[in-house]
This record gives sequence, structure tokens and C-alpha cells, in this order.
Amino acid sequence: AFKVKIASTGELLDVAEDQTIFQVLESNGVFVPVSCESGVCGTCQTGVISGTPDHRDVFLTDKEHTEGKLIMPCCSRSKSPVIELDL
Ligand code: FES
Repeated sequence: AFKVKIASTGELLDVAEDQTIFQVLESNGVFVPVSCESGVCGTCQTGVISGTPDHRDVFLTDKEHTEGKLIMPCCSRSKSPVIELDL
């Protein structure tokens, strides 16, 4: 498990092993648009301010995965204890 930090509010939200970042955001009233929910369409693309994404999508390029400045919250997770998103 890890936490998602909402940059605009400083809110820290727990993401359990059986939840996606998107599900946690949605259930806490933080709106991120989604479509495929499987990492292929790019709709949910969100900026990463700090932390290390654990990419599970096939939408971003290898370069973008390595840079770690973008994440697809419908499917990707975090390698760091906290990942701060530009929301
Ligand atoms: Fe399609 Fe996230 S909703 S990549």
C-alpha cells in the first residue's frame, strides 16, 4: 500500500493493494477523467510532482516512464511510500 498526496489541498489518501489510484481519488471527490481504465487510452493522464510511479500502462512512452513526471492513475501505482499528484 502507499499514499497519494493531492498537491492542491495537501490531502493524503491511502491506496490499498486492491484499489487503483483512480478509485481512491473518485471516492474522495477528486475528479480525474477516465475511459479505458486499463492504461491504453491516455484519458486519465496526471502530472507527478514527487514520488516514483510504478507504471502499469502502455500509453506513455518508455522515456516518459523513465522521467516519472506523468502517471496514468487508472492502473499505475507507486514505488515510493507517497506519490504527490498535480491535482
Ligand atoms: Fe485510459 Fe487511464 S483511463 S489510460
